[in-house]
Amino acid sequence: MEKGYLHIVTFGCQMNVYDSQRMAQLLSGYQMVKDIKKADLILINTCSVREKAEQKAYSLLGRLRGLKRNKPYVVIGMGGCVAQQEGEALLKRFPHLDMVFGTQALHRLPELVSLASQEGKRICDVGLSHNGDMAPSCVSPLLPNVKSFVTIMQGCNNFCSYCIVPYVRGGEVSRKSEVIIEEVTELVQQGVKEITLLGQNVNSYGKNIPGELSFSQLLEEIGKIPGLKRIRFTTSHPKDLSNELMECFARIDTLCEHIHLPVQAGSDRILRLMNRGYTRQQYMDKVQRLREILPQVSITSDVIVGFPGEEDSDFQDTLDLVKKMEFDNIFSFKYSDRPHTKACSFRDKVPAAIKDQRLTILQQVQREITLKKNKRLEGHIEEVLVEGRSKKDVFELTGRTRSNRVVNFTGNYELVGKLVKVKIEKAYVNSLRGIIVGN
Ligand code: 5AD
Ligand code: SF4
Repeated sequence: MEKGYLHIVTFGCQMNVYDSQRMAQLLSGYQMVKDIKKADLILINTCSVREKAEQKAYSLLGRLRGLKRNKPYVVIGMGGCVAQQEGEALLKRFPHLDMVFGTQALHRLPELVSLASQEGKRICDVGLSHNGDMAPSCVSPLLPNVKSFVTIMQGCNNFCSYCIVPYVRGGEVSRKSEVIIEEVTELVQQGVKEITLLGQNVNSYGKNIPGELSFSQLLEEIGKIPGLKRIRFTTSHPKDLSNELMECFARIDTLCEHIHLPVQAGSDRILRLMNRGYTRQQYMDKVQRLREILPQVSITSDVIVGFPGEEDSDFQDTLDLVKKMEFDNIFSFKYSDRPHTKACSFRDKVPAAIKDQRLTILQQVQREITLKKNKRLEGHIEEVLVEGRSKKDVFELTGRTRSNRVVNFTGNYELVGKLVKVKIEKAYVNSLRGIIVGN
């Protein structure tokens, strides 16, 4: 029975994209609608990792006040990390908000929604259980069935001094390998070709379950699933990147040659203050080892500028590391204070104007490196998994290389979901253009 229209807005990371897919699946009695004004149920899946994402969620919620006034029967819910962090306070602050559900309440969503919509209750469910109380759901892939995420663990034990994740997602909890393998197998049977295994720190997968597979062993097992063409994973913490895991890249054919390995800073003093658990040299050694094992590996990273106490010399160390490492790409952020975190109480906050300046310089340096590395691919033939129509031009197809670069090319829509060979003709900073030269 149709219960009405559902609209979900997602902020933040891939973990949230996955959670939103799960929400849609759990509420499958609702029909998804693109126009928020037509929805009977609006869910905002929030992220509090950085201040900007949090502000965006609040401003959207603020704008929905008028909509609720005109359509009082609409149920508005806020989930994810901001919900986890603020709890009841959100219901007090926003009288038009009906539901607040935390990062571990997802599987109770149908129940919560029916309490809110049928009984008119205002609900807050933000318990953190820390015991792996996760929905063993198998997420239907989004159409077209090309790629899908699978969460292998939730939470994080690392307590990097700037990061809110351990407070809003709880401690590390791995899902059982049998359940993960079953979920991947089912997705592949439904037509999925590429799986990305998700966790805040996938390298410590299995450590909280006695006798469980290690992450490398889990990769080996997933590599044996027939029909699965590509495996990716994110995110890896450099301190836990083992030789065993590096060697998986050489051993498992379907494991794509890309690793996201956030360095955060290039200065030892700042790395220590960040509580990252490695030095600049240790990080660089791991990258070198990885490149020895797999010379064509693509490495991306996260970098924060303007961490409290960051002097110009520290920033120069970061720039120097970024130049030396020649990452394929980076995500770079200005440090922002997050509630509960240790860094929040650190003195010597860096002024906004200096953070802006440093970010601009860093991004310019990286843009040149990214372009240079992309240009090296001109004339090469790359394996591309065709994902769908290109966003900019509906007559074009788009896909990704094994190194995770976006490639646009002309081709028949029937190729979606297939692996094709594309000759790269032109490289830009954010994408490549090519022509199909074979299947
Ligand atoms: N300020 C700025 N960036 C942050 N990140 C996490 N917390 C903060 C913060 N307080 C960045 C890190 C992390 C990415 C997901 O977000 O670089 O790897
Ligand atoms: Fe946050 Fe550090 Fe955990 Fe990553 S490893 S989620 S940055 S605490």
